[in-house]
Amino acid sequence: MPNNKIIIQETIKFVSATLQNNSNGHDIFHIERVVKNALSISKKEGGDAFIIELSAWLHDIGDYKINDGVEKHTLLVPNFLRYINVDEDVIKEVLVVISSISFKGGFNSNEISLEGKIVQDADRLDAIGAIGIARAFAFGGSENRLMYDPEQKITEYANFEAYKNSNAPTLNHFYEKLLKLKDLMHTSSAKEIAEQRHAFMENYLTQFIEEWNGLE
Ligand code: ADP
Ligand code: NI
Repeated sequence: MPNNKIIIQETIKFVSATLQNNSNGHDIFHIERVVKNALSISKKEGGDAFIIELSAWLHDIGDYKINDGVEKHTLLVPNFLRYINVDEDVIKEVLVVISSISFKGGFNSNEISLEGKIVQDADRLDAIGAIGIARAFAFGGSENRLMYDPEQKITEYANFEAYKNSNAPTLNHFYEKLLKLKDLMHTSSAKEIAEQRHAFMENYLTQFIEEWNGLE
């Protein structure tokens, strides 16, 4: 197997090329923030830094949101890692992390490792706060969703398919997912940052509705 530094370098090239045209919030800068924050959390919380970094770089490559609704982690991630001669036990660990972290409307029941918890926390931090708001609207726009429609109430989805296929306005997504994330963080480092970002989103939503309702 090539050394860790080479593996990461090759992975960055692959991920940058794959995501270069993405404008729905899953661009290379999202991935870079997740890598940086996951490594920073891991300094305090432990875990295998190489598995964390490699998984963070690859965590969205096979995501259904960038693969026309079809989840492709188990295909794309091992294919790439085998191509650059990464050992099978490393590939297995990375796949465990990646398959466990996606929200999927709250229907992801895959077992999560310490490394998985750290990458998931970093990924979720990027879904809330100022950047989280921007990413939500970028994603909504890419799917032709309305920003808001007062007639469309917040829905409880029966399963992942229903969540995935919904075309609810982006503002609903705050209540379906983004405002829940603060209480779903695993590590104390992420919980602390999430509190502040959560408060920022609540203020944002209050002002959004005030502006929506117009002047008296
Ligand atoms: P996850 O796999 O947990 O969904 P991602 O890294 O793929 O995490 O990030 C998901 C991003 O896509 C978030 O920023 C989120 O706001 C956005 N997103 C997902 N579903 C919707 C939706 N229904 N409306 C608006 N944004 C969404
Ligand atoms: Ni992500």
